[in-house]
Amino acid sequence: MLTVIIIVLLALIFFTYVAIPLIFPGQSDRLPDSRDPIKQDLEEERDALFRAIKELDARNDLAQTRRDQLRARYEAKAAKVLRALDERQLELKENVPSRPTQRKRFPYVTLSFLSLMVIMAALMPSYVLPRMNGGTVTTFFEGDIEQAKALKSLERAANKNPNEDNLMALADAYWQLNDVAQAEATYLRMTSELNPVPALAYSRLGYLKLQNDNDIPGALTYFEQAQEADPSDLDTLYTLSEIYFSQARPDDAVKTLETYLSLPAGADDEEVKTRLELFKQVAPVLNAATQDPTQETLAALADTYWQVGERERAADIYIQLLSNFDAHNGLAYSRIGQVLFFSGRNVQAIDMLERAMAIDDANLDTLLFLGNAYFSSDRLEEAISTWEHYVEVAGGEEAAGRVPGLIENAKARLAGAPTDSTVVEVSGESLFAANCAACHGLAGQGGIGPTLIANSRAANEANVRNLIQYGRGLMPGFIASLSEEQIDILVDFVVNNLAQGQTSERP
Ligand code: HEC
Repeated sequence: MLTVIIIVLLALIFFTYVAIPLIFPGQSDRLPDSRDPIKQDLEEERDALFRAIKELDARNDLAQTRRDQLRARYEAKAAKVLRALDERQLELKENVPSRPTQRKRFPYVTLSFLSLMVIMAALMPSYVLPRMNGGTVTTFFEGDIEQAKALKSLERAANKNPNEDNLMALADAYWQLNDVAQAEATYLRMTSELNPVPALAYSRLGYLKLQNDNDIPGALTYFEQAQEADPSDLDTLYTLSEIYFSQARPDDAVKTLETYLSLPAGADDEEVKTRLELFKQVAPVLNAATQDPTQETLAALADTYWQVGERERAADIYIQLLSNFDAHNGLAYSRIGQVLFFSGRNVQAIDMLERAMAIDDANLDTLLFLGNAYFSSDRLEEAISTWEHYVEVAGGEEAAGRVPGLIENAKARLAGAPTDSTVVEVSGESLFAANCAACHGLAGQGGIGPTLIANSRAANEANVRNLIQYGRGLMPGFIASLSEEQIDILVDFVVNNLAQGQTSERP
């Protein structure tokens, strides 16, 4: 439709300026005398200046700054000449007597054409907007154009002057636009062309490897290079320690965090101190299990991971235990099921938790989470009976925490009433685990992204909503992948749980 409008407009322009003067030659003004000597001089000067400006680009013998200076001077001159030309043309026009037989006509055609343009311009937005559901997509639309423009100018700057700042800005912009291949190529270009190589180029490459290929050994190499290039960069040290920890190298992880805390800027970081304590606690068990992976050492490792809150790592080890040693371990099934539930995989969670139930039907965690998973899958009757069993095992309603409330809620929903947000809190946590935890940590403690726990910027609802929708910096936007309702739940979870300094309060 837009194309049709544009074609019609072009046809109109053609008609106004070409066809009408041909059909009605008397209407147009007589052309000024083109052989006016002053005008001719000016035109020659103009052409010479334009040529000079053009040729400047090829003057590789001149320094860039000098070329810029010259260009600015020529352009200023050319502007002056153009102005003089305009003035001369006007003068000539006024001196030409209008045709005695024909009064100069009011330019109806041009005027009606102009008013048509104005009307079109006024109508255009209202024509385009309604097709973009609501206001949100328009911002997207405008944002895209802005982004494309910004990217073009960054590309130009980087080609003209491929220094650290320009290349970094360009590479980051590619990344923000999700053009991972171009981003990686540009960071790699920095590592091959710049000397010394900036540490940030290596660490960005490391994050790219982690985020897009899940290539942990590849990322590790880059982060080690980043640390070599800048041994006091705290972010690099922190990430490096996490990678060592994930690669079953707790001693290296401990050493790296000790380096972190030995730096003046990192000395008071409570979060890192806590993390270091955790690494130290896990280190001996992890080393024992790595050196001699028996049922005992692995079970001890899984339990330690679980106790310190490393639930996904614990689940990995429980899976090893089940497949290599003891296919009848109820606790392992239960904890794997809980982790699956948190990551939003209800079907698999129910499978695991039902197996756990079959082995031990008196484990409160199993009963609670099996009920949660049934509820999230809309299997309300099963949720209610599982939670009722929980209340029984717990020893009555008093001792059952929030579970009686969950049962009420499920019963109300079964009766067709809209449910309140009792369980929504849990799905906030699972949405977070599935979409955000890779960067912000499963508990919001931070990682590639900043910590959200007790973070005042994460307590600002409008800010958080905008951020989740559109992203910022290295954080992607989620407006395309999450529903409005899911975003609402996440905003609520971040603002009212994480930012207040607590993870979701479980019943
Ligand atoms: C690819 C990694 C990544 C993912 C996935 C991610 N974030 Fe982020 N997040 C970041 C980074 C990096 C920042 C810092 C952005 C900046 O200011 O440049 C950030 C910033 C934030 C902030 C602002 C914190 C502050 O101190 O300014 C909030 C809130 C937030 N993210 C929430 C979320 C939520 C909720 C999700 C899931 C829907 C999510 N993030 C997914 C990387 C990520």
